[in-house]
Amino acid sequence: MASSYRCLLASLALQFVYLLLLTAPLLPHAHGAAEGAAKSKISAVFVFGDSTVDSGNNNNRVTVAKADFPPYGQDFPGGNATGRFSNGKVPGDIIASRLGVKELLQPYIREDLELGDLRTGVVFASGGSGYDPLTSVLTGATSSTGQLELFNDYKERLKALVGEEEMTRVISEGIYFTVFGANDFANNYFSQIPIRRYQYDLPSYVRFLVSSAVNFTMHWSYSYVHKLNEMGAKRIGFIGIPPVGCSPSQRELGSTECEPVRNQAAQLFNSEITKEMHRLNAEKNVLGSKFAYLDMYNNLLDLIQRPNYYGFTEVAEGCCGSTMLDVAIFIKNRPACPNVHDYIFWDSFHPTEEAYNIVVDKLFQQNLQDLM
Ligand SMILES: *[C@@H]1O[C@H](CO)[C@@H](O)[C@H](O)[C@H]1NC(C)=O
Ligand SMILES: *[C@@H]1O[C@H](CO)[C@@H](O)[C@H](O)[C@H]1NC(C)=O
Repeated sequence: MASSYRCLLASLALQFVYLLLLTAPLLPHAHGAAEGAAKSKISAVFVFGDSTVDSGNNNNRVTVAKADFPPYGQDFPGGNATGRFSNGKVPGDIIASRLGVKELLQPYIREDLELGDLRTGVVFASGGSGYDPLTSVLTGATSSTGQLELFNDYKERLKALVGEEEMTRVISEGIYFTVFGANDFANNYFSQIPIRRYQYDLPSYVRFLVSSAVNFTMHWSYSYVHKLNEMGAKRIGFIGIPPVGCSPSQRELGSTECEPVRNQAAQLFNSEITKEMHRLNAEKNVLGSKFAYLDMYNNLLDLIQRPNYYGFTEVAEGCCGSTMLDVAIFIKNRPACPNVHDYIFWDSFHPTEEAYNIVVDKLFQQNLQDLM
């Protein structure tokens, strides 16, 4: 009896093992399917920020931060200078394209936007903008809060076209990116106009920027005018500050070394904001939104430190020059820059399309997936 019982147990155990073996290959599959179901569709891309991602919002503004003339856009489809601060596409376009949403992410300011453009997302970014409102005053850009106003305006416009329910669907199926901060250091705190340097030491200025960044990001999910979650952004990619001290115009004149203080400032901001993103994610049940910190700093720095690995030969100089006056309106109508593929930087501040492509691919491989 005891022995047959043991026998039964053994055979049951074997059957269990057998079942496990049978189902084991299915398990990851089943898991994947469940995950797939949880991942919702991304149907629109929205970008807030500065010249890294502006695709033409400054074209009609009175500001030095413009790029709607050659040599900008020399490698853009059709060779057009659209207001993008590079030789070709900028990160918003590349992200939208990699996500299969569309090839070009248009500026919201464009007058000829069609319903299809609106439904799949637009760019609110403005060259020269920052988290600090003073930065945008100094450069003539649309401030970060001004960009939120435009987002509200966008929602009203879309609602008028397709109704509230469809507008809400577009907003909730969207992915949102924020790209500010480089100008707060390069064109404000460390600039010739030392207003903020008198008011704040560097750690307190960074705290001020981090607080502004968190407040800005929160506006997407909390509404400051309306009720909780009415703004509706569910997936928020927070792109950190690049190694500002490595852009040609921020290096010591003629130096091959990156300027360390600007880089330390960027790193300090990035490490503080990473903590904030973790905190916000921990509260996601309250907010209903997912946050990811995307590491622009180390990914771009890797290109700068290992240019040969990526096929670049020129790290410290911009294709269009390297001084403070080799950027934006100061290079208006200069001749095209040949050999652009050798360069990480297009002008004295902005990377080339090729550098952006590599960096965006790295962001996808790292944690951009967390937002899907
Ligand atoms: C480039 O500009 C020309 C002239 O404004 C326009 O006809 C053409 O459609 C533009 N091409 C693209 C790709 O935007
Ligand atoms: C961010 O919002 C909090 C809470 O409303 C406020 O106390 C703080 O001053 C804001 N930060 C900035 C930099 O405006």
